[in-house]
Amino acid sequence: MAKDKSIFTCTECGGTSARWMGKCPSCNAWNTLIEASAEPAVGKNRFGSVHASLAPTSEVLPLAQIEAADFERHPTGIDELDRVLGGGMVEGGVVLIGGDPGIGKSTLLLQAVDALQRSGMNTLYVTGEESGAQVAMRSRRLGLPDSQVPVLPEIQLEKILHTLQSRHPGIAIIDSIQTVYSDQLTSAPGSVAQVRECAAHLTRTAKSTGTTIVLVGHVTKEGALAGPRVLEHMVDTVLYFEGDTHSNFRLIRAIKNRFGAVNEIGVFAMTEKGLKGVSNPSAIFLSQHAEPVPGSCVMVTLEGTRPLLVEIQALVDSGGPSPRRLSVGLDRDRLAMLLAVLHRHAGVACMDQDVFVNAVGGVRISEPAADLAVMLAITSSLRGKALSKGFIAFGEVGLAGEVRPAPRGQDRLKEAAKLGFKVAVVPKANAPKKNDKSFEGLTIYPVERIEEAMQVVRGLD
Ligand code: TYD
Ligand code: MG
Repeated sequence: MAKDKSIFTCTECGGTSARWMGKCPSCNAWNTLIEASAEPAVGKNRFGSVHASLAPTSEVLPLAQIEAADFERHPTGIDELDRVLGGGMVEGGVVLIGGDPGIGKSTLLLQAVDALQRSGMNTLYVTGEESGAQVAMRSRRLGLPDSQVPVLPEIQLEKILHTLQSRHPGIAIIDSIQTVYSDQLTSAPGSVAQVRECAAHLTRTAKSTGTTIVLVGHVTKEGALAGPRVLEHMVDTVLYFEGDTHSNFRLIRAIKNRFGAVNEIGVFAMTEKGLKGVSNPSAIFLSQHAEPVPGSCVMVTLEGTRPLLVEIQALVDSGGPSPRRLSVGLDRDRLAMLLAVLHRHAGVACMDQDVFVNAVGGVRISEPAADLAVMLAITSSLRGKALSKGFIAFGEVGLAGEVRPAPRGQDRLKEAAKLGFKVAVVPKANAPKKNDKSFEGLTIYPVERIEEAMQVVRGLD
């Protein structure tokens, strides 16, 4: 019978050695090496031994008898982050945070983990992409030269798990999950199988030890988390960092949250000293034209609980034999559909034109309430005529040319009125009652069809 090969792991640094030594070869600590089996036992499944499945299960209870415990939450003190998390980090919760390189994931997490460490929580920052020195440099830049956050530069899963077991931190950041690999798998580091297995192990550790684990994930060019989307199913919360790296504003959006609301957003500005929350963000995605320009229409989008005013820009220009339709921050298929509706129901033809649309500031708008603003921006560009000053519009447009209401239309209108907008073209069902005073200063034109909206705009010329 083959004898299990043994390795010795250091309880301090997680370093390994093929034989027992009094002093750890990695961190030079004394008497810290403990024996651990290097080979998985035959027949092990990925969550442990097969025999575990034969072990007695937990007690089966009717729901009513199970105590509904609220989750223990730890606010990070960074309000905009706590907002998307639903009130703070949850004990044993696993958060996946994705975003383009350089958008500020490491910055924000270092700020958050430092705040938690200062509040008395035991933390751990595992860095696989950068050296400890690079993380230290960032902390100096953030004005946290005295940070006590323990940093572990490590990419091997087993060592990370070991450190988690021995230090038992309240929260651990894994920056990034794509760099973590396990010796037990034959596939290459960074491969889908590696990332999935490593995430599964870390998730299990979070659940069994109560440590909150934050996984940093890369995003591919297409915008999905690199490697497995399956990560999204494993974790409790998925946050996406959005924004244009050329502008200072960043949005964090909750895509999935088992402990809070989804579609909530946090808004930050990247400054010289890290990310700062923007508590009143409704007007930051407006580009600042002194006078209205053709091809621009402002809409009010509703992100979670907050209305945001976003400028939609369109450029219609004569195209070649196969004209292009391009959209940034908006759905391209929907753009093609809206162009067809414009042609059929409003007589606006762009067949031989290139059409580009863009949501200003790198925001992504997925709600159909953008339809009306997109169509009005396109028509405005085509006519070469700006919409009137202080103009906003929102509403979904259907294939039959009907304008459908947007959720919480009155909240959107209130925000627009508050910011001094003058004219609103909105779905009829969203229009407030005549005597409502909260929209003072805003002239509201309710419309039921796209043709009507076009008429209103022409009437304002
Ligand atoms: P980073 O957090 O490293 O991004 P990610 O981990 O998502 O790849 O952010 C890097 C960018 O942020 C980099 O371009 C520098 C900029 N930055 C600031 O503008 N101010 C700061 O205080 C810090 C730390 C970074
Ligand atoms: Mg980083």
